[in-house]
Parts: sequence; C-alpha cells; structure tokens
Amino acid sequence: METRILGGTGLEVTVMGIGAGGPSRIGQSAGKSDAESIAIVREALDAGITCIDTAEAYGTEAIVGEAVRGRDRGSYVVSTKKSTGRQITRADVRQSLEASLKRLRMDYVDIYHLHGVILEDYEHLAAEIVPEMLSLRDEGKIRFLGITERWNDDPGHAMAQRALQDDVWDVMMVGFNLLNQSARERVFKQTIAKNIGVLVMFAVRRALSQPAKLVEVLDTLIARGQLDPADVDRDDPLGFLVRDGHAASLPDAAYRFCREEPGTHVILSGTGSLEHLRENIASFHRPPLPPGIRQRLVEIFAHSDSVTGQ
Ligand SMILES: NC(=O)c1ccc[n+]([C@@H]2O[C@H](COP(=O)([O-])OP(=O)(O)OC[C@H]3O[C@@H](n4cnc5c(N)ncnc54)[C@H](OP(=O)(O)O)[C@@H]3O)[C@@H](O)[C@H]2O)c1
Repeated sequence: METRILGGTGLEVTVMGIGAGGPSRIGQSAGKSDAESIAIVREALDAGITCIDTAEAYGTEAIVGEAVRGRDRGSYVVSTKKSTGRQITRADVRQSLEASLKRLRMDYVDIYHLHGVILEDYEHLAAEIVPEMLSLRDEGKIRFLGITERWNDDPGHAMAQRALQDDVWDVMMVGFNLLNQSARERVFKQTIAKNIGVLVMFAVRRALSQPAKLVEVLDTLIARGQLDPADVDRDDPLGFLVRDGHAASLPDAAYRFCREEPGTHVILSGTGSLEHLRENIASFHRPPLPPGIRQRLVEIFAHSDSVTGQ
C-alpha cells in the first residue's frame, strides 16, 4: 500500500487509514462483538495499513488497543481525540488522555486531537486547552497535536480556517468528498503551505454508499442552487462511474477520488464489514480515476459547500 509522510510530523503512514468511528464504529453500531471488531482492525493491519483513528467518544479505544496488542509500537500510528462539546478544562483534557491511554494500553498516542471543534469554541480551546496539550506533549504522552472539524455543522470549514491562523496544529482532520470539495480552496491550500498533516474523513459516508441517500443529498444541492440538475441522472446518480468501467463501485470511486487530492495524506475508511474492508483495500491498490473523469466530478460539484454526505 502507498505510504506518505504526514506533513511536518515526519510520520510515515499508509494512504488508507482505518476509522473506528463514523456510522459503523468498526461494527459496534451494528451490534458486532468486540472480537469481530478486533478482527477487522487486525485484518487491516495485516494488509499493511498503519494508521488507525479512534476517539474517547466512539467507545472503540479498547478494541483498537486489543487489536494492536503484541505489535511493534513503532509499526502503526494511532490517533485519538478529546471531546469538546462544552467548555472543557485543562484538568478534563489531562484526565481524558490518561483514560484513553489506559483503554488503548499505550504509553503515548501519536496524534491527540480536539474532537469536532466548532468556531464558537475555538478561542477558549486555543487559550486554555492547547497549553495543556503542549505540556502533555512535553511529558511524552502525545507526539503531535491535532484538531478535527464538526463537519455536519460546519460544512464550509469556518473553524478550520480559524485554526489555520495559529501555528500549533501538526495534523488536521478535514471533511472532504466528491460531493463537497470546498476544502480544496479553503483548507488544503494552507495546509500544503504550512506542511500540516491531513487526515480526510467522510470520503464515503452514507451518501456514497447508499443510493437513496445520494439522491436526497443531490436534491438538497439542486434546491440550494449548488448543483445543475442537468449534470446528474436522478434515476442512477453518478452511475456513469461504474457503468462506463471507471470504478468498481461508488465507494471505490469515492475513496480513489479523495486519494488523488493534493494536500491529503491519509483517507480514513470506516466499516463494520470484513467484506467492505477487503473491497476498500482493493480500491486503494487501484490506479487513480482517469483524469477526465476526475475533472468531470470536480466540475459537477464545483459550487457545492453545504452538504457532507452524512
Ligand atoms: N469530527 C470528527 O472528528 C469525525 C467525524 C466523522 C468521522 N471521523 C473519523 O473518520 C473516520 C471515517 O469516517 P467514516 O467512518 O464516516 O468513513 P467512510 O469510509 O467515509 O464511510 C463509512 C460508511 O460507508 C460504508 N462503507 C464503507 N465501505 C463500504 C463499501 N465498500 N461498500 C458499501 N458501503 C461501505 C460503511 O458501512 P459498513 O459498515 O456497512 O461498511 C459506513 O456507513 C471515522 O471512522 C472516524 O474515525 C471523525
């Protein structure tokens, strides 16, 4: 599997990363056993994937910890996150990190993010919480600082744009997919200039894995004047990608679309299904989408900045 250097962190990571959150939570949302979820992460690691994302909020840290047990600590990169839904304190972040490390059974995490940050909370977090994260980094419990957007509430990246004005973030987790490519101009230009590592979330989500959901999202974009109805066939939206042999499936096209985007390093993929995991690994081994097809997708969704594919 292709590897990349995660911006200024210097960490070498595979282009496909495992997301232990999202709608699937590696199967936990569908009632899978811990053993089944552990098997998914282990199969990903055995296939050479070296980056795993979890969070205190997902309830999957212990599963990730068990899945990596016995492997060389330097052979994978783990990112986890501190929830930020209220005015958290320095003590909260320290306590949360200690609890995450315990669940993960690790001495340190590679990337520790503030999770789902909205613009309204950013100033408090930057002034009060970042200094504590820097102390935790100095103590060796965190290697790099990260921040993630609450993309469903902020599909136009207002928080990320504010965060980019500061020089503390080593890594950012950014919402990006073929239905909303607004991060290209609003985030990636700056992350490239600042050499910030980028983890992409929402590459597929529901809209690019469930046809009915896709129609709903396209109708929303049409109603908002962000998509020309002549550009999509409502009876078979984006069907040309598979019909004309450019991709094996819509998720396949979606992951490969994100992978080629300049400025992205790791494309997170979330699944609770071993079959989907295997398909997704195969996608990351395929060549890029043909340039003309990619350009067509860029043009179709050029004005979209208000949906996430949730
Ligand atoms: N604010 C934040 O910090 C934030 C927010 C969202 C996500 N994240 C992180 O980003 C990661 C990636 O996001 P995501 O989990 O939404 O991932 P995703 O890969 O964009 O989408 C996952 C969805 O697609 C389905 N899927 C995956 N592969 C498929 C395939 N081959 N065929 C059909 N359906 C497929 C999954 O269902 P199945 O289980 O049925 O495969 C699931 O519903 C998360 O796991 C989490 O770690 C962070």
